[in-house]
Amino acid sequence: MATLGQIIFYSMVTLIVIFSAFIILILVLAFKNSSSAVLSSDAAPVANFGQDELLSCYLSVPATSAQISLTQVSVTWEKTDMNGLVYQFVNGAPNLVNQNSQFAGRTQLFPNELASGNASLLLRSVMSSDQGVYTCTISSSGGGGKVNINLRTAAFSAPTFTLSNGSLGAVANWWSPKPNVTWKDANENALDGNTSFTQNSAGIFSVVSTLQSVNMSSTYTCKIANNLVAAVSKATVTESGVSGNSYFVYSAASSLLASTYLNILTSIYYLT
Ligand SMILES: *[C@@H]1O[C@H](CO)[C@@H](O)[C@H](O)[C@H]1NC(C)=O
Ligand SMILES: *[C@@H]1O[C@H](CO)[C@@H](O)[C@H](O)[C@H]1NC(C)=O
Ligand SMILES: *[C@@H]1O[C@H](CO)[C@@H](O)[C@H](O)[C@H]1NC(C)=O
Ligand SMILES: *[C@@H]1O[C@H](CO)[C@@H](O)[C@H](O)[C@H]1NC(C)=O
Ligand SMILES: *[C@@H]1O[C@H](CO)[C@@H](O)[C@H](O)[C@H]1NC(C)=O
Repeated sequence: MATLGQIIFYSMVTLIVIFSAFIILILVLAFKNSSSAVLSSDAAPVANFGQDELLSCYLSVPATSAQISLTQVSVTWEKTDMNGLVYQFVNGAPNLVNQNSQFAGRTQLFPNELASGNASLLLRSVMSSDQGVYTCTISSSGGGGKVNINLRTAAFSAPTFTLSNGSLGAVANWWSPKPNVTWKDANENALDGNTSFTQNSAGIFSVVSTLQSVNMSSTYTCKIANNLVAAVSKATVTESGVSGNSYFVYSAASSLLASTYLNILTSIYYLT
């Protein structure tokens, strides 16, 4: 005979198993949903103010070997919480009647790419109000669906290096939001630099950072970073001067799947 305690224990175990199966089911469905027929090669790009940005959106399964007829593909680009459209293409031509004026003359698709299901949007001369979530919707004889793209905007530039009286200087005049500057030697030890910022009338920061008493034939890493993007530079100091090279690292947007998972856990916690 099972005691009351044992019954409760096994009931709890059964409940836990059922809820675990439920979570797995939801995750599988969420994942299946995210791999719909329309994809983006970068769903969370960081665009540099004033530069052009390509918002990627394409059909994952190109229509057989034959191309889609242009009159059979329609594409709509919308932006969350904004009236009007970003761009629309229907019946073989752009339809810009409902386009929001913010995007007038600044957006285009690539007609030659549309026939292969590529509905990527070129956004010219990015500004901070372009930041937000865009939805690209494709419908065509070769399939359809939609994808969200979270565009973040920032100002960022690689520093130029100078060597003067034993001090290594890094100057980068295009940063926003305000970044942090960190220096390291070749052994990854943190070094104290002296950093100053000046902000222009448009809110863009100019960054000047100086590392005192550097050693010859050494390589230093300078990292200028805000919450969206980092410029990582290696500067090599020699008797004849300094040479630097840089690359950018973009921060990933928070994962939608992770937040879905968290919501489910929260509601189950609430149920029990
Ligand atoms: C879509 O077209 C753009 C513009 O020509 C191109 O840069 C991009 O690589 C294309 N994407 C795909 C998935 O073909
Ligand atoms: C060069 O550096 C030395 C020691 O760091 C300092 O004493 C000197 O004043 C500096 N000269 C100039 C022109 O900054
Ligand atoms: C930063 O600059 C100030 C003034 O020029 C100087 O007194 C200070 O020693 C510097 N700090 C470092 C870590 O170089
Ligand atoms: C230069 O080398 C000396 C001796 O190895 C070291 O103490 C010092 O921290 C180095 N300076 C920098 C800026 O790396
Ligand atoms: C910059 O540094 C400050 C203090 O060290 C820190 O609180 C802040 O989070 C940093 N910001 C970024 C974008 O890393």
